[in-house]
Amino acid sequence: MITNDIAALALLTGEHGVSTPRLSAADAALARHSVRSYRDVAVTEEEIHTLLELTGRAPSAFNLQPWRFVVVRDQNTKDQLRAAAYGQKQVGDAPVVVAMYADMEDTMAHLDEVVHPDLPADKKAGTIAMLKNTFGPMTPEARGVWANAQSNIALGYLLLIAKSEGFDTSPMLGFQADQVKEILGIPATATITALVALGRGADDGFRSHRHSVERIATFR
Ligand SMILES: Cc1cc2nc3c(=O)[nH]c(=O)nc-3n(C[C@H](O)[C@H](O)[C@H](O)COP(=O)(O)O)c2cc1C
Repeated sequence: MITNDIAALALLTGEHGVSTPRLSAADAALARHSVRSYRDVAVTEEEIHTLLELTGRAPSAFNLQPWRFVVVRDQNTKDQLRAAAYGQKQVGDAPVVVAMYADMEDTMAHLDEVVHPDLPADKKAGTIAMLKNTFGPMTPEARGVWANAQSNIALGYLLLIAKSEGFDTSPMLGFQADQVKEILGIPATATITALVALGRGADDGFRSHRHSVERIATFR
């Protein structure tokens, strides 16, 4: 378990005993692509823990960290999820399916968790009041949309970190959200950010096809 920045650095320099190959962020960005076919190689709980701990380093506005995860390894549950995901094969075949969701109602109910511990008590109370004033008047739906935007930042982290740690992934939005919530006991008010199939790929998937920088950026 990573407990502080020094430990996180130790992890990245390979002192935590995971033997999978490491890629830099740049190499992982170049190498990552969706993989929809997986080898029958288990992913350990420790490996998943590491991936989620690093994913949780993602930034979020007000540091609210509204992302939540259900890690599914049980075959029967994966089969149910596959049916809810229009039969997408990778949902049943990958050793792990991570259901990632944004839960702003849980976040709002535990604002004390996200306020920085180093703040003095009066500043903590002020920050919590500010957050309640900001988000309290919004509808749960609008809060959910806001939270899901934050959760998508962490989704990007998860995909990149998984690749850098030697795993392949397939992010998906092709599923019936109500059914996935029912199967996994995810609150009705939450927004599912993505299902992510995760494991060690059995094929190379498609070659990535991307815009050039010139197409998407202007320099002034
Ligand atoms: C949020 C999100 C949802 C996606 N949903 C699906 C999906 O339901 N099924 C699928 O096969 N691929 C899905 N994809 C994969 C995209 O098609 C893929 O990322 C894109 O074509 C770029 O290819 P690459 O990931 O191989 O680079 C999804 C990707 C993202 C980021």
